Amino acid sequence: MKLIYFFSFALFGAGAIAGHAKAQQFPPEQVKQGAAIYAANCVTCHGEHMKNPPWAIDLATFPRDARTRFIDSVTYGVRNMPPWGDVIKPDGIAALWAYLVAGE
Ligand code: HEC
Repeated sequence: MKLIYFFSFALFGAGAIAGHAKAQQFPPEQVKQGAAIYAANCVTCHGEHMKNPPWAIDLATFPRDARTRFIDSVTYGVRNMPPWGDVIKPDGIAALWAYLVAGE
């Protein structure tokens, strides 16, 4: 019985997160574009599908409300992370953000 309470809480919690994410919706083509750019440039350090990063941070934990920080970090680099502004156009970086937020 306790388990059921747990699951309904988990569902409710997930619903709340989904409701929050609704504020940021992205066209599927943009998410797809982001996935392709990610696969070409980010996988080696951040892991396939943003999972099990071999040595960089786990992007799954990146705060979903920190778009400006994401854009800045990716464009200009941060500590051990190289800058991408010369390689990926702003709309590509925006697509990466869509991919990060919307997921697979
Ligand atoms: C050469 C390895 C490498 C590649 C390739 C790489 N990153 Fe990173 N990335 C890192 C490392 C290392 C960090 C952790 C930096 C730190 O905080 O010291 C990081 C951090 C980040 C952060 C967090 C920045 C913050 O503000 O905390 C984001 C977002 C990010 N990477 C996105 C990307 C994206 C998107 C790509 C592909 C365009 C990418 N990274 C490619 C190594 C890499």
